[in-house]
Amino acid sequence: MSKFVFDDSLRLGITLIDEQHSRFIGYINDTWDALERGDSSAEFLPILNQLLDYVVEHFSCEEALMREHGYPGYRDHKERHNQTAAELFDFDLRLLVNDREESAAFLNFLTAWLRNHILVVDKELATFLRDKGIS
Ligand SMILES: [Fe+2]
Ligand SMILES: [Fe+2]
Repeated sequence: MSKFVFDDSLRLGITLIDEQHSRFIGYINDTWDALERGDSSAEFLPILNQLLDYVVEHFSCEEALMREHGYPGYRDHKERHNQTAAELFDFDLRLLVNDREESAAFLNFLTAWLRNHILVVDKELATFLRDKGIS
């Protein structure tokens, strides 16, 4: 699996958000690496949990930023986060830990979703924040 690279096309110009996206992508890549190495369930579980925890952390951080700055698209953006988190947590953790194909499907879903979300939904938020002089 080719690495998910945080390149300039994904950079939105808001330092906190860019740093978090870079870290988020790093955790996705760590999880791919663990899968490719064929880590045991006991080794794989904490890596997967790190990724899932970071999804929640990143979403709540962006939402706090939106509330702080009175972002008009808050409800819609938060709804998209909620929906995605629900879809991610719908994957059965036991299956993810024990079934390579299920884990690959999960990571492919998350990768495609994140790329699109950054380029469309987060980009709108970044434009709003930059217009307010935040960087
Ligand atoms: Fe984001
Ligand atoms: Fe977002």
